[in-house]
Amino acid sequence: MTTGQALPLRADLAGRAAYGAPQLDVPVRLNTNENPYPPSPALVRAVAAAVADVAGTLNRYPDRDASALRDDLAGYLGHGLTREQVWAANGSNEIIQQILQAFGGPGRTAVGFEPSYSMHPIVAQTTGTRWVAGARDAGFGLDADRATAVIRELQPDVVFLTSPNNPTGTAAPLATIEAVCTAAPGMVVVDEAYAEFARDRRRSALDLLPAYDRLVVIRTMSKAFALAGARLGYLAAAPAVVQALQIVRLPYHLSAITQAVARVALGHADELLATVGDLCLERDALVEWVRQRGLVAADSDANFVLFGTFPDRHAVWQGLLDRGVLIREVGPPEWLRVSIGTAAEMATFRTALDEVLRNG
Ligand SMILES: Cc1ncc(COP(=O)(O)O)c(C=O)c1O
Repeated sequence: MTTGQALPLRADLAGRAAYGAPQLDVPVRLNTNENPYPPSPALVRAVAAAVADVAGTLNRYPDRDASALRDDLAGYLGHGLTREQVWAANGSNEIIQQILQAFGGPGRTAVGFEPSYSMHPIVAQTTGTRWVAGARDAGFGLDADRATAVIRELQPDVVFLTSPNNPTGTAAPLATIEAVCTAAPGMVVVDEAYAEFARDRRRSALDLLPAYDRLVVIRTMSKAFALAGARLGYLAAAPAVVQALQIVRLPYHLSAITQAVARVALGHADELLATVGDLCLERDALVEWVRQRGLVAADSDANFVLFGTFPDRHAVWQGLLDRGVLIREVGPPEWLRVSIGTAAEMATFRTALDEVLRNG
């Protein structure tokens, strides 16, 4: 029996819809920045064997500290990092949530530079953290003066810098990140979900970790590692930050199966990351192609391209969908974002977009 009364939902959540891109069954899915290449048969066998091993122990809780996985992640990141400086969770979205649970919350402020990844403000809100959006420049870039002016004014508890940024694809210079670390009174979170796709891969905010105790660098296995379905995100930071996050994490948050699968994938890093080069070539070719058509494409250091501008972007999005190609309506109003797929998928996308533009 229902009473017909509204649920006693928190007032600040009332009227909010769940976040998520449409999950439509179409031939070409280029809307959530996944890696289009499925695991090889050899990797599928290795994953299945690892899961079979773990299956016999599922009566027990998993390793609460995910120690072996954190060792492997530290090894992958290099930079002399150790387990004490690495933490893992169910996707980098959970990492973001744990950071805001520990360092945000009621009475605290988090800042980001928009357009950027929309889960940062959403998780700020669900954790009761005040969110303030700073602006990027007209080319979606972020220089040190622009970023530090906002920080000096707001004195935020948490700053989010996404580099390469989603949905624009633009990367922030390390000088901007360093200036923010110097100016910020609280935590600086650099979300590097797309780091492996950057044109200049030699430089990462990981380089700055030894100098800044309050810097957190987030990574994920969902993109370059082609492991979105396994849900594994992680971070590198000072040991004290990792210890602080253990206060808010749920006990046994990372299943034994997740830990085992992620470790197998890390053991096959060379094979998995071999797709990155091809995806970057496809991306650069797409940026060229878009510009040749008289459209605008933002510079991209990620596995997607933001392009436009369309007075009615929904019509373009729908026209593509009608041709079996799903991309994303996200970012500034006249722009669309397309994830980089296989060469065949990108050819289908280009043909479909040409048709949509020709037919008005
Ligand atoms: C910038 C950024 N950070 C984090 C994530 C979350 O990724 P996951 O939770 O799959 O690790 C995404 C996903 O698209 C992203 O674009």
